[in-house]
Amino acid sequence: MKFFKVDSYEKLSRQAANIISAQVILKPDCVLGLATGSSPIGTYKQLIKWCDKGDVDFSEVTTFNLDEYVGLDGSHDQSYRYFMNSNFFDHINIRKENTFVPNGCAEDLDEECQNYENMIRKAGGIDLQLLGLGLDGHIGFNEPDEYFCRDTHIADLHESTIKANARFFGDESLVPTQAITMGMVSIMQAKKIILIANGQGKKEILEKAFYGPVTPFIPASILQLHPDITVIYSEN
Ligand code: F6R
Repeated sequence: MKFFKVDSYEKLSRQAANIISAQVILKPDCVLGLATGSSPIGTYKQLIKWCDKGDVDFSEVTTFNLDEYVGLDGSHDQSYRYFMNSNFFDHINIRKENTFVPNGCAEDLDEECQNYENMIRKAGGIDLQLLGLGLDGHIGFNEPDEYFCRDTHIADLHESTIKANARFFGDESLVPTQAITMGMVSIMQAKKIILIANGQGKKEILEKAFYGPVTPFIPASILQLHPDITVIYSEN
């Protein structure tokens, strides 16, 4: 594991964007696994700038997002599809048909999970996975549990996650209680992983996840077993 502590969110974002750019430059038709939330916004902004300058080209890239809320369609401004379009995809030269986010409004959600899993396999798996870290140690929406959940599945969001995400919805009661999330197999089979976390609030869980025991009660702790993981942390 490589662990970088930097002194600003801007540096964290540039460093993550640098690693993603290097991946795209070295393998223009790579498969990126992407995250939403507040942590990656700076990374996406930086990548947009470099794409504008012509330094990085997303035209052959395929992306799979980690998760989507159940019950929100892509036009809902809190859906992760909407987030990805407005914070990233609309501003780079990626082909939208090569960007995948689970469909949280699918009629058959189990079938949607299975299809998503199959699509990732068909694309050859993920070359580089970008992750944020939940306050309870979740990655994607793999919440603390008695076991690690293997495949793409429907997750019940824990109370702390609902509370943490209420800031985006304005009110806790509006936060969906379930999400479709990529499971641990697709995440752990990614050839390379970057996890980004910022703020004092993430310090304790970061220490538990990367310097404590590997346990499903802290889902991110499984990442200690990944052969190529880079963690970038900024206290600010
Ligand atoms: C989002 C996701 C979540 C977030 C995590 C941290 O796609 O998968 O695991 O990465 O909840 O969120 P922020 O970055 O908002 O602190």
